[in-house]
Amino acid sequence: MDGNGRWAKKLLLPRIAGHKRGVDSLRATVKACIDRDIRVLSVFAFSSENWNRPQEEVSGLMDLLGIALTREVPNLHEQGVQLHFPGDWSKLNSRVAAGLSEAEATTAANQKLILNVCFNYGGRWDICQAAAKVQALGLPMTEQSMREYLSLGHVPDPDLFIRTGGEMRVSNFLLWQMAYSEFYFSDVLWPDFDACELDVALLAYQQRERRFGRTSEQVSVEPQNSDEE
Ligand code: IPE
Ligand code: MG
Repeated sequence: MDGNGRWAKKLLLPRIAGHKRGVDSLRATVKACIDRDIRVLSVFAFSSENWNRPQEEVSGLMDLLGIALTREVPNLHEQGVQLHFPGDWSKLNSRVAAGLSEAEATTAANQKLILNVCFNYGGRWDICQAAAKVQALGLPMTEQSMREYLSLGHVPDPDLFIRTGGEMRVSNFLLWQMAYSEFYFSDVLWPDFDACELDVALLAYQQRERRFGRTSEQVSVEPQNSDEE
């Protein structure tokens, strides 16, 4: 969800105003996903590297997380959204961490859409924490055992990766999980992202041929899905 700061700057507003509008975009995108029967949405809300931003912005983002939790969770729960907050909670304020845990517990039985809000998340952190768990349990280090302990072990790998804001990089998001994801980059700034932009991305995705290492001829004879890669 990139481009909040630039969106605010264009309007001569403080960066935090862009992040606030970003929450509105996320709310609209969640609804658009439900309407389109998309079952899983994972968003990158705060990266392990975002701590390097000015202190004022970091605390603004932490406050915004707390506010969004209070304001949004009841509506999300009503819509049947199952919430998860993959990431390293150890550095978060204990009140916020308790809020995340409560939101996960409240929405745990919901089935309409799984929403992973990755917060203080990093792809490298995720791989390391999973490997540490696998090792501590004395399990063999296999793709299967790793998959189970990664922080998105409860969902299949993403089919489509969308980055807004014009940058063409992954920035330490789901490094393990995006091995076979289709990549889509949009110049639209995240606060301007809406259901229409989502449809443009979905249309682009529909044009892709997913081969999972096979040849085009094989795929056209026996279509494979990502679970069978
Ligand atoms: C993304 O928007 C939101 C977060 C990382 C929290 P940015 O804050 O990176 O916006 P730009 O890239 O400065 O426009
Ligand atoms: Mg950015």
